[in-house]
Amino acid sequence: MEEIVPLASLAATRKLGKRLAQGLKPGDVLALVGDLGAGKTTLVQAIARALEVDEPSDVVSPTYTLVNEHAGARGVLVHIDLYRLTDAENAVALGIAEQLHRRDAIVLVEWADRFSELIPAQATWVELHFGRSGQRTATLRRGPPSLFG
Ligand SMILES: Nc1ncnc2c1ncn2[C@@H]1O[C@H](COP(=O)(O)OP(=O)(O)OP(=O)(O)O)[C@@H](O)[C@H]1O
Ligand SMILES: [Mg+2]
Repeated sequence: MEEIVPLASLAATRKLGKRLAQGLKPGDVLALVGDLGAGKTTLVQAIARALEVDEPSDVVSPTYTLVNEHAGARGVLVHIDLYRLTDAENAVALGIAEQLHRRDAIVLVEWADRFSELIPAQATWVELHFGRSGQRTATLRRGPPSLFG
């Protein structure tokens, strides 16, 4: 199952975030993929806003902390960024592997493709592209049918 969504504007990204948020429940994982600046954090912020997290402005890339946690209307939102993770063994040592498999939280992972072996099998993959002509798209793959519409 694959779907391509054009993201011509921030409004389109917000709309996608809202739609993805509607289908998300604790135990779900969104694996976000895309080059530097592709819009991964922007999509996480849109989802966080839709899930009514307490302080949407606090939703920033956890580049140094690797993991941030937010309280939302449908439970905990865990935001992980694997950009600075050096190896998979470290993910276990730092507790990230455990965070990725939380059943009580919605888990959103930036740079998921850097350690795809760590990503739970049920994850939905969202690939963000920044085309040469400047147009952005998202490609959605796998995951529960409720996320595809
Ligand atoms: N659909 C969109 N339309 C216009 N601008 C966008 C869109 N999505 C994201 N942007 C802009 O692109 C810039 C980079 O976005 P963002 O920080 O979300 O990327 P990222 O993939 O998380 O980057 P990094 O790899 O550094 O974590 C931001 O200024 C953001 O506002
Ligand atoms: Mg980011």
